[in-house]
Amino acid sequence: MQQTIIERLDRIAEDVVSLVLRGAAGPLAPWEPGAHIDLALPNWLTRQYSLCGDPADRDSYRIAARYEPLSRGGSEYIHRFLRRGRALDVSLPRNHFPLVPAPEYLFLAGGIGITPILPMLRAAAGSGTPASLVYAGGTLATMPFADELRSSHGERVRIVPTRQQGRPDLAGLAAALDPAAAVYCCGPASMLAAAEAVFPADRLHTERFHPAVRSFAPNTPFEAVCARSGRTVRVPADESLLEALIHAGHPVASGCREGVCGSCELTVVTGDPEHRDDIGAPAGRMYACVSRALSSRLVLDL
Ligand code: FES
Repeated sequence: MQQTIIERLDRIAEDVVSLVLRGAAGPLAPWEPGAHIDLALPNWLTRQYSLCGDPADRDSYRIAARYEPLSRGGSEYIHRFLRRGRALDVSLPRNHFPLVPAPEYLFLAGGIGITPILPMLRAAAGSGTPASLVYAGGTLATMPFADELRSSHGERVRIVPTRQQGRPDLAGLAAALDPAAAVYCCGPASMLAAAEAVFPADRLHTERFHPAVRSFAPNTPFEAVCARSGRTVRVPADESLLEALIHAGHPVASGCREGVCGSCELTVVTGDPEHRDDIGAPAGRMYACVSRALSSRLVLDL
């Protein structure tokens, strides 16, 4: 964890605040566009936010949080109780949404999904690569950073208030795009589904706030062998691997508990994990909050 102090807390759009978190003990850990951090909130909740400032600024991180009336308490706490000057612990940055080299970029953002896209667009434009952004939201008043984008990027950016203009024509954008271009999309599930319907999967990079709706085979019990401690933990069908490990006294970090943030990543030594996350686990890794096992046992580097 890194200790920070809230240096600024500003309302930047309807129901959206931006926070600038200054390192309390000097420079903060480096990060790249697409990265996020966990905020350890004083009400014991841990929530993930994309970094939307400048990666060259090692003194502070910038994030933005939308108030979600149906949230589980994270955004409400940020909006109601956090104030300038408050200390806040944050994790090291993690990046499951990295910018890959491409001859052209199309960025698609919906609402607060603009946050990881901001530094990506800046990096792509700064490198001289052709890049454009289509940024959709209900109304202009609900869309954070719209002015900053217009003034910094001019015609590269198309702002689409959907209540006036309707949803952007993704099929039209796909037809006009360089076949080798990379497409990055972050926004509500409806926008991700629309992007998945028109852009080829090998060119489309997405980041989700919530897991996609999918179905899996019924849970079956399995054993998790903790290679370092030598202990074997039984994971019943009605418990996640994360819960079983914690109940057995093996602390494992966690955040979203929905398979979208990556906090609970474990290294698999042997065995066959059944990946149920929305991140795309790298080889030899799994996310313990949602993923299970296809084999009767997994050996974990724990
Ligand atoms: S806690 Fe977020 S992916 Fe497991």
